[in-house]
Amino acid sequence: MPTQAMKILPFLLLLILYIVNSTRGNQADDGWQSGHATFYGSNDASGTMGGACGYGNLLSQGYGTNTAALSSALFNNGLTCGACYQLRCYNDTQWCLTSTITVTATNFCPPNLALPNDNGGWCNPPLQHFDLAVPAFTQIAQYRAGIVPVLFKRVPCVKKGGIRFTINGHSYFNLVLITNVGGAGDVIAVSIKGTRTGWESMSRNWGQNWQSNSYLNGQSLSFRVTSSDGQTVTSYNVVPAGWQFGQTYEGVQF
Ligand SMILES: *[C@@H]1O[C@H](CO)[C@@H](O)[C@H](O)[C@H]1NC(C)=O
Repeated sequence: MPTQAMKILPFLLLLILYIVNSTRGNQADDGWQSGHATFYGSNDASGTMGGACGYGNLLSQGYGTNTAALSSALFNNGLTCGACYQLRCYNDTQWCLTSTITVTATNFCPPNLALPNDNGGWCNPPLQHFDLAVPAFTQIAQYRAGIVPVLFKRVPCVKKGGIRFTINGHSYFNLVLITNVGGAGDVIAVSIKGTRTGWESMSRNWGQNWQSNSYLNGQSLSFRVTSSDGQTVTSYNVVPAGWQFGQTYEGVQF
């Protein structure tokens, strides 16, 4: 009888949907990977300023308090600085909250090889671990949890304005800090050009500080920045000839 079948059909579809959903929910699929998260610093995130990416004051640099220190397995010696991750607490009914957050990698969580991986050595290789600023952690889990399992995946970074270039160092030692990078977020190659030089590739000194040993004083400067997804943007003459050490200039964005 067609009417009988039509009555059952919606329930059958719901049942199938339910089964599909419940099997998916137990896996780290759709690009989600599993790891763990803890927190560091104080409630106002002041202890997370500075850090191994060289970003300095994360509030004035626009990174806010949704930031993370990455374990060695994710930090990639600093090349991952600036990458953005979506993160949610997972498989811990006691401590998990339901929110998903987006954090930027701004620091390194060093290994503690004296402690076991499952008791204090959270950031030991090969663990994929996020040591979050407190305001980030408390969005996904209860503070008292201390450590929770998470699912995470890379997402594009959304930034206001252009890539920022802060020129530190001194003559013949230009150390350019690159911040506010959209798109993939993590910079893997940088070239610099003065009005009296050709394009010259910079070497990464530490974090997202890139170095040139050329004499560039008194020249207008251009930058070419490549991110980990292979995209490149060029900011022509974003730094005027009268630039000073310690100043920040804004280029184009990905
Ligand atoms: C969920 O957590 C329990 C207890 O820690 C663990 O035994 C289990 O393997 C976890 N399940 C998944 C799918 O990660």
